Amino acid sequence: MPDAFALADTLAKHGQTHLLEHAKTLDGDARAAFCARLAAIDWAELQHPSELPVASAAAKSRVLDQAERTRRAAELTARGEAAFTAGAVAVLMVAGGQGTRLGSSAPKGCYTIAPHSGKSIYQLQAEKVLSLSRRVGRAVPFLVMTSPATDAETRQFFAAHSDFGLAAGQARFFSQGTVPSIALDGKALLAAPGKLLENPDGHGGCHTALVDSGNLARLSKEGVRQIVYIQVDNILAPVDDALLVGLAEAEKADVVSKVLEKAHPDEKLGHLVKVAGRDRIVEYTELTPEQTRLRHPDGEVIYRWGSPAMHCWSVAFLDRLHQRGYKLPLHRSKKPLKAWPAETTGWKNERFIFDLVPEADVSVGVVIERGDEFAPVKNKDGDDSAVTAVQIASAQYVGWLRAAGVRVELPANARVEISPLFAATREQFLARWDKRVAAVTGDYYLEA
Ligand code: UD1
Repeated sequence: MPDAFALADTLAKHGQTHLLEHAKTLDGDARAAFCARLAAIDWAELQHPSELPVASAAAKSRVLDQAERTRRAAELTARGEAAFTAGAVAVLMVAGGQGTRLGSSAPKGCYTIAPHSGKSIYQLQAEKVLSLSRRVGRAVPFLVMTSPATDAETRQFFAAHSDFGLAAGQARFFSQGTVPSIALDGKALLAAPGKLLENPDGHGGCHTALVDSGNLARLSKEGVRQIVYIQVDNILAPVDDALLVGLAEAEKADVVSKVLEKAHPDEKLGHLVKVAGRDRIVEYTELTPEQTRLRHPDGEVIYRWGSPAMHCWSVAFLDRLHQRGYKLPLHRSKKPLKAWPAETTGWKNERFIFDLVPEADVSVGVVIERGDEFAPVKNKDGDDSAVTAVQIASAQYVGWLRAAGVRVELPANARVEISPLFAATREQFLARWDKRVAAVTGDYYLEA
């Protein structure tokens, strides 16, 4: 039971006395549970959302462009391979978001996406890890971050599908925390009597959650040095990327961030730039349309490099931040909130994982071909929807087939699907392709 006087003081100091009044209306256990939650919250940070960046001060980050990638490919890939085979790499997928923009309350990963096999997003992601594990001859740890909103359903979904063929215990589930949403006047809201209105604390919650769940310590103990970070909603996010891992190892990087050329200035992406001598990712929501069009004196667009939210994090770096007591800041966005007794507009608070980037002493960007690695499923229709993601994936597989000498002529609505268990990368596909067909002229599915 928290110290009632200390709690009353803290709440008064932060303008939350109404919560104590509410506590008085609750009985016994409900009151104790409510007060325990109130005592666990960092009320001070809720009043200090993160500062917006000064756009004009942004400089260029170090980014490996295509030319440098090509030049160093052999060296970096060999280094990454060595790390994979030594068991020094884990994959982390964040899957705690509620998928509200998809119009479903189920975890995004449960969404059926593959055009012919009907596989879910979770299955595609898990099969990529399985394919990698088979290739390198060891069960690459697959960390899956859920949230209280997605945890039970995600675990059940994996269990119902026998973890999609992964080894027992290879998928390690852990849940992120939550953070209160607040009214525009700064007061915390209720979801129901005795229950604060809270939301998952953003993918940035994965830093604390990795520590609190014991997973970070376990990875260190196992000798894992690099974490390949992906978001569940990008169905093409590669996990088997030796160049990425090799770059992290070669540069002794705290973080490597993948970047791509934006499709248009207003594309909804974060941007890798340097602010006050440190790399950071500036979100699209933090920039005006004018700012996204600003240029450096040499003509290069300042917000040129979009972030597809794929990184390689060093385990030692994450641990150092933890030892230092570092806590990611909160960002807030104005949202309609399902508060009790009445819906209202207020602030939803979240931590962003990429806010760790400015803490890195060594941060490097590496450019990717968007068509090869980026097919996000964010919206129900239109841009970044399941339809566009499947189109992008199909176009990638068409590229692989053509590279293998197959004649491909697809009617507009036909789709190609290749199982990650047949090939999860272009190289694997080319190595494995057995010339079973000379031409593809309609829907085509290739299973293992
Ligand atoms: C995100 C990035 C943006 C990047 C873009 C690429 C943010 C704030 N911005 O935008 O920089 O260019 O992706 O696609 O992330 N998630 C959790 N827990 C949460 C919230 C989200 O695990 O509490 C996960 C979701 O499951 C999802 C991912 O994080 O996999 C992205 O979240 P989302 O809110 O969709 O970010 P975007 O605004 O699309």
